[in-house]
Amino acid sequence: MADCRVNSIEQVRLLMGKLLVTGASGFLGWNLCRAAQGPWDVYGFARRNQNQLQGVKLRRTDLTRFKEIKENLQEIRPDALIHAAAESSANFCQLNPAASHGINVEATANLASLCADLRIPFVFISSDLVFNGLKPPYSENDPVCPVCIYGEQKAEAERAVMERYPQAMVCRMALMFGDAGQGAASFIQPLIDDMRNGRQINLFVDEYRTPLSAANAAQGILLGLSKAKGILHIGGLERISRFDFGKLLRDIVGAPSARLYACSRQSIEMAAPRPADVSLSITRAMALGFKPGSLRGELESLACTKIEKLRPGG
Ligand SMILES: NC(=O)c1ccc[n+]([C@@H]2O[C@H](COP(=O)([O-])OP(=O)(O)OC[C@H]3O[C@@H](n4cnc5c(N)ncnc54)[C@H](OP(=O)(O)O)[C@@H]3O)[C@@H](O)[C@H]2O)c1
Repeated sequence: MADCRVNSIEQVRLLMGKLLVTGASGFLGWNLCRAAQGPWDVYGFARRNQNQLQGVKLRRTDLTRFKEIKENLQEIRPDALIHAAAESSANFCQLNPAASHGINVEATANLASLCADLRIPFVFISSDLVFNGLKPPYSENDPVCPVCIYGEQKAEAERAVMERYPQAMVCRMALMFGDAGQGAASFIQPLIDDMRNGRQINLFVDEYRTPLSAANAAQGILLGLSKAKGILHIGGLERISRFDFGKLLRDIVGAPSARLYACSRQSIEMAAPRPADVSLSITRAMALGFKPGSLRGELESLACTKIEKLRPGG
């Protein structure tokens, strides 16, 4: 009988095969590439940024160019694809609906069709902003009801993915924070910088999320890739307002003189309307084995590594 034991990383890679991550130069994509390396042979698509991890085979590609994508997929022949590329700023999408539709909806639909043709697992990264924030917590069965163009585009893309490839998976992500590599950004680093430099920080008391680290989120997405199809919610364990998140972060990074200012969403003008509370229920992900860390624990472990480098002179 053949000896089926796996005794090297290369053998594990051969078993899992090639994983292609779009948006590999972005915040979540970079974390996905980092988490997948080892078991997977990781390929990434990036548009402009040079945010590359050692060992990841990065290709510069504009996902709105269908022919280019098709040729790249034919060359790489991935065994699975996670589509994390997007125009991810809700304000930009609100002001530029046509420009953002190409990458957020059309490119997503095209990738779903290509992966259906190749018969490979396909994960589309969506968002908690497909909900209007009035009836939290949201489970996978709740109907979508976006209040901004970005949320509408995500909801339209989700429908297109499921129509074109019913075996695909849609991961709806909560707000994420964490390390972002060299060219991408998470909202947390500028927040810490403002805290340490005594700048006034306006934080909403009436906007709730279920945040988690992108490193933890990446583990959840990879778990979903191997075990699920359909819709999967991935978020943190705790529902928290932006203001309370700021207070927790201030305590963890040790910036007692940070100038946090409690305000309401209505008091600050922004291009895109913001839902009040898009807390996600993550019961399904946890049943699959997803283990979110505590918010304090995740922020503390981040503080031990990257955040320390943001100290003045650090
Ligand atoms: N961050 C969050 O808290 C959060 C929460 C919920 C859902 N999400 C979703 O998670 C996914 C990743 O978000 P993120 O925060 O990582 O965003 P991000 O940092 O802004 O990264 C976006 C990525 O998409 C790529 N991209 C944009 N347009 C492209 C195009 N036309 N062709 C090829 N690549 C293109 C960018 O490439 P270049 O930078 O190289 O141009 C970048 O790698 C998105 O789908 C977002 O909607 C994020």
